[in-house]
Parts: sequence; C-alpha cells; structure tokens
Amino acid sequence: MRLNQPIRPVYHFTPPANWMNDPNGLVYYQGEYHLFYQYHPESPVWGPMHWGHAISHNLINWEHLPIALYPDENGTIFSGSTVIDWKNTAGFGEETMIAIFTQDQAGKQSQSLAYSRDAGRTWAKFAGNPVISTPVNMPDFRDPKVFWYAGQASAHWVMCLSATDRILFYTSMDLIHWTASGQLGPGCGPTGGPWETPDLFELPVDGGRETRWVLTVGIQSGAPAGGSGTLFFVGQFDGKTFTSDNSPDTLLWADYGADYYAPQSWDNQPNGRRLMIGWQNNWQYANLIPATTWRGALSLPREMTLTQTAAGIRLVQQPIPELKDLRGEPKCWYNETIIPGANLLAGLQADSFEIIADIQVGTTAESFGFRIRVGKGEETTIAYIPREQKVYLDRTHSGQNDFHFGFASLHAADLVPVNGNLRLHIFVDQYSVEVFANDGQVTLSDSIFPSKESLGFELFSKGGAIQLNELDFYQLQKKI
Ligand code: FRU
Repeated sequence: MRLNQPIRPVYHFTPPANWMNDPNGLVYYQGEYHLFYQYHPESPVWGPMHWGHAISHNLINWEHLPIALYPDENGTIFSGSTVIDWKNTAGFGEETMIAIFTQDQAGKQSQSLAYSRDAGRTWAKFAGNPVISTPVNMPDFRDPKVFWYAGQASAHWVMCLSATDRILFYTSMDLIHWTASGQLGPGCGPTGGPWETPDLFELPVDGGRETRWVLTVGIQSGAPAGGSGTLFFVGQFDGKTFTSDNSPDTLLWADYGADYYAPQSWDNQPNGRRLMIGWQNNWQYANLIPATTWRGALSLPREMTLTQTAAGIRLVQQPIPELKDLRGEPKCWYNETIIPGANLLAGLQADSFEIIADIQVGTTAESFGFRIRVGKGEETTIAYIPREQKVYLDRTHSGQNDFHFGFASLHAADLVPVNGNLRLHIFVDQYSVEVFANDGQVTLSDSIFPSKESLGFELFSKGGAIQLNELDFYQLQKKI
C-alpha cells in the first residue's frame, strides 16, 4: 500500500514524535498557555498514556516541554484538566498548578491529582491518590474537567466527569474531597460509544447580560460524520447540576466533519475569551491514518460564543484572530461572475492557506464552491447546494483513503444563507481542512491525505452562474 505520508502541518500543533490524542489540562498562567495532551512517547499508535506538555504565548508557536505526567502504580494517565489553586484550597501552596486526571488500571478508572509549584515545569503526584475511586459496575468513568464556580450563594470547585452514557457533576472545597451533585443523562444523546471528555462553561448570549452554560461532550461513536464527534448542550448550571434548555431529542453537534474530537477550553483565560481546541482525528481510524514518526494533530484554537437563532441559542465558533499573523500577501478578487467551466483560481498553488469567500447564493446554480489540493485524480471539495441549503465537505477523492473503509466520505451540514449570501472561511494546513461557514454558525473539520504535488484550486459553479462578492486568499506560514 502506497501511503501519502503526511507532511507536518505548519500552524497546527503536532507532537514532537509518536502518538497524541486529546488536549488535556488547558490552563493559562503567567502569560503562558499550557497545553498538555494524551501522549504515547514510545510509539505512533495509542498505548500507555502520559501527559505530553507544550507552552505558547500566542497559541500558534508552541515550545515542547518534557513529559509532565508518567503512569504510576494507580495506572496510566488519561484525560483531565488543570486549574490554578489561587487561594491554596488544596493545601499544596498558593497559586499551585493542579492537574486532575483519570488513571486507568486495566480498564478500572479513578481520578487523581498532581501538582506543580513551578508553573508546570515539574510535577508531584498527590500522596492520597486516587481522590475518587472506581465505582462498582462503571467501566467508563473518566476525563474530569474542573473549574472554580463563583456563584452568588456559594463558591466551590466543580468537576464534570463522563460515565458511559451520562455526565456526572461533583463539587469540592479543596479538590481532594468530592461530593456527587447531579448528572445529565442517560437518554440525552447517542450511546454508540462511551461519552467522554466533557467541558462546561458560561457565555453571554450575543455579548449581552443574559448568559447560558454550554456543556460539550465527546461521543466516541455515533456522530453524524461517522465514528467520534462532539455534542454540545445549552442550558443552565446552578453550581451543582446542568439542565439543558432543549428536549433530549435535540442533538446539537459542534462540528459536522469527521475530525474534531475531545475539545477542551482553557481555564483562567484572560480577557474573558472562551478558547477551545480539539483533537483532529476520529477513533474510527485514528491508529491507521498515514503517519511517519508521529501521529495526530490538534485543531485550530477556536473562540466560542453564543447567539440567539430562530431555533434557539446556539454555539458559534470562530478561528482566533491571532491566526492573522500567519498571513502572507493577500490575493483578492471582487465582484466576479463565476460561470460553469471557468476557473478564476487556475494557476494558484498552495498546501497551507486561508480562503475567505462571500458569495451570492442566487437561484441558478445547482451547486458551487471550492476544490482544493487538486492534483492527479485528487481533490477535496467544499460545496454548497442551494436547493438543499446544505454545505458539504467531500473527501471521497482527497488522496490516500484505503487505510479505513469509512474514510472516503462526504460530510454535510444544514446552512441557510444570510441575506442571500454564503460566507466560507477555510483553513488548510497540509492534511487538515477546517471550514467555518457563515461566520462560525457551522464548522466542518476533516483530515485529508493528498499527494504533496496536489496543490491546485478551482472555484466552480455548476448548472448556472454565481456572483462572487469577495474572495481573499492568503498563504499561511509561521513568521518566527
Ligand atoms: C477520548 C479518550 C478519553 C480518554 C483518553 C485516553 O479520546 O478516549 O476518554 O481519557 O482518550 O487516551
């Protein structure tokens, strides 16, 4: 089998070598964004998990640091989170960085703590681990996401934990003693695979005074694009438990592509932004994707906001503005009519780039959109079909796809034009494609494995002309 070995993405996070999966322990402290991640340092396939570690000042340039957490007698180190204990509630010292994570011991899962008094450079495990032991008859009991809840009536630590088909909530005053305080589910979403990696945060609605809580959950299997995907719930949190605003049959997906999983948001983020990053992969084929000495990448960091729509309050996800620093000279087009058979982008070549397009949907074209990473027999298509009001990401001919039967696939999301226009914001980075449609109302993220020579572009329209209001194109490159 010929493999189109992936070239390292330019502006996405990848591990220095070997296997990575979920982002873990995201916390901002003293000017540094910390990123820990599920890491197998000895092989490019999943194995005994450690926490890898990197830091960044801008979420684009990452400095790799030594492995933070190693397996011990309580088990390997699964996913979890990190907080700053400003007031020394746990007794390890003021401003200690504390990691709360799952330990897996041959399928038995418990929750443990580790702490660092030097901004995450060195770590000690808590002598009293585990702080929550394995319950009876619950094999999937993992991925604690902890934050400080500062409510009017009470202030305390909150932990969200995934358990097979539900999210459990716990409270604590000291991160060591935990009390069960509520749950969401069962019966609130697909259960083709275990629920995993929850996160919970509060956001204003349309930047106003009204707020809602967002609970994100990884569903290991049963997502719309096949395999793993990320659900989100919008509702209320009273410090103890979460109540969804929607009925259990309203399933809200954070991404309609196949490769956006186990996202987590940064705790203690300055300026009130809620930034999330996910693993750009899917458990269906994660261990099989073409790889060299390393395997796996993270998504772009995304800023989360909430907006009121006709259907209810929904999550909006936008690429962070810091990414503008990667841009080369712009190429811009305005007010062009795109007729079937023409290609405004003939001659353009790139493997890592950004496209921002504003297009009048009109009434004549059957479909229109972009083909990217076009080469011999290879193309990845981002298309809109006005009659269906759907946006598509088609990787059936994107390149190498024979490593898993489900990989050659077409992913779709409902999307209504805004004032008759469609806006597409597309990021491509070697083998990563992320589409933010209509200013982040819908996102689709996919991995693709084209040959390195497949660098062409097409802006196409089928069955009739479309009117392009504006198109901006940038090559993307790290400047430092
Ligand atoms: C999610 C997940 C978590 C678990 C970790 C193990 O991708 O399965 O539930 O903690 O990965 O690596």
